Amino acid sequence: MKKTEQLYEGKAKKVYCTDSPDLLIVEYKDDATAFNGLKKGSIAGKGVINNQMSNRLMERLEKAGIPTHFVEELNERETVVKKVSIVPLEVIIRNISAGSFSKKYGVEEGIVFQQPTIEFSYKNDDLGDPLLNDYHALALNLATAEEIETIKNYAFRINDVLKAFWSECGITLVDFKLEFGKTSDGTIILADEISPDTCRLWDSVTKEKLDKDRFRRDMGGVEDAYSEVMNRLMNHK
Ligand code: TMP
Ligand code: ASP
Repeated sequence: MKKTEQLYEGKAKKVYCTDSPDLLIVEYKDDATAFNGLKKGSIAGKGVINNQMSNRLMERLEKAGIPTHFVEELNERETVVKKVSIVPLEVIIRNISAGSFSKKYGVEEGIVFQQPTIEFSYKNDDLGDPLLNDYHALALNLATAEEIETIKNYAFRINDVLKAFWSECGITLVDFKLEFGKTSDGTIILADEISPDTCRLWDSVTKEKLDKDRFRRDMGGVEDAYSEVMNRLMNHK
């Protein structure tokens, strides 16, 4: 598999074309941003961890019957993925109150919900990724009703798989963001990444934050938190 021209550079990854029209190569960077790019920084070694962690989790999801873009890990930072057109919806599942949920609804962090919540944001940096519901997504032609149904079903199933997996690692899956894409034949598959950049992960016993909130909130110990999560994932049988 050979990289050809760069297709796109995002905040945390670069995406390259390959000699195969249906495949891309993603390269994970150490760059970190928050608050829609307002806060910029770097987390040493993050690209390596996020690449490998996301791939291991996508392999697990594939085994559980969830189609993903993962094809093959090339090296520490680069992975071959299926080419998709990204559905411009950020899909957020929450098991426990935190972050923007706590802020918006005026509740403390750490309230365990009876059942998970799902919400969509319109993936549009210029607009600051505004929250929207199914009807808005349909009105804006971001996806069809059937695609939205498929995405919701996958998102809750992914939550079940990831919650159980992280729990076995002594980690509580608080919330996370997913992105889905459409292959050339219209199939919806999981795309983007699953990592401490895109999930809130708390130590199950101490409740210590082991994710990007340490960067967002200037808590320090960011690199150590990412390494800790990666070690627990690698030590899982
Ligand atoms: P929020 O509480 O800020 O809405 O974040 C919910 C989850 O989504 C949290 O796990 C972090 C993740 N997330 C992203 O992956 N990208 C983003 O741009 C934002 C705002 C959140
Ligand atoms: N996607 C956000 C940003 O643009 C980062 C985050 O809070 O996760 O900067």
